[in-house]
Amino acid sequence: MRELGLEITRDYRNKAPHFVSVLNGAFIFTADLVRNINLPLTLDFLALSSYGNAQNSSGEVELLKDLRLPIAGKDVIVVEDIVDTGITLNYLMGYLEARKPASVKVAALLSKPSRRKVQVPIHYLGFEIEDAYVYGYGLDRAQEDRNLPFITSIKS
Ligand code: PRP
Repeated sequence: MRELGLEITRDYRNKAPHFVSVLNGAFIFTADLVRNINLPLTLDFLALSSYGNAQNSSGEVELLKDLRLPIAGKDVIVVEDIVDTGITLNYLMGYLEARKPASVKVAALLSKPSRRKVQVPIHYLGFEIEDAYVYGYGLDRAQEDRNLPFITSIKS
């Protein structure tokens, strides 16, 4: 978190980035990341779901909760907990770009490149991981275990 926060703080010097956090999974990552950023910033949330309670993406992204704040002209930083197939992030990039932000970058805690179906940009990445079902630290296992203060996995 300190490393990512420092990098973003340096890259956005003299700017005030607008964070868009993707609920539910990114809520803990977002809270820790923004506390490591030494800039004026704004923050909004939206909720997307492509998994429901399943372990594999349905391929269809559902907008469960929309943004509250306009993003036109803003330097947006998307905060995602994990990029798996890339379908969710690809949908979100299109959704955001249509609202004419000045820029959009992506901060993701985890990425599983071996599972990618759509290529998506990740500008700030915590960790690249193998194909295992991970949960804890905001990520769920059938909606439970988001409160675990660490990330653990079930090998697939
Ligand atoms: C997870 C995660 C990402 C998405 C990544 O969300 O938070 O948004 O899946 O998968 P993808 O790259 O294959 O699209 P999920 O739909 O499980 O909802 P949640 O954040 O509420 O747990």
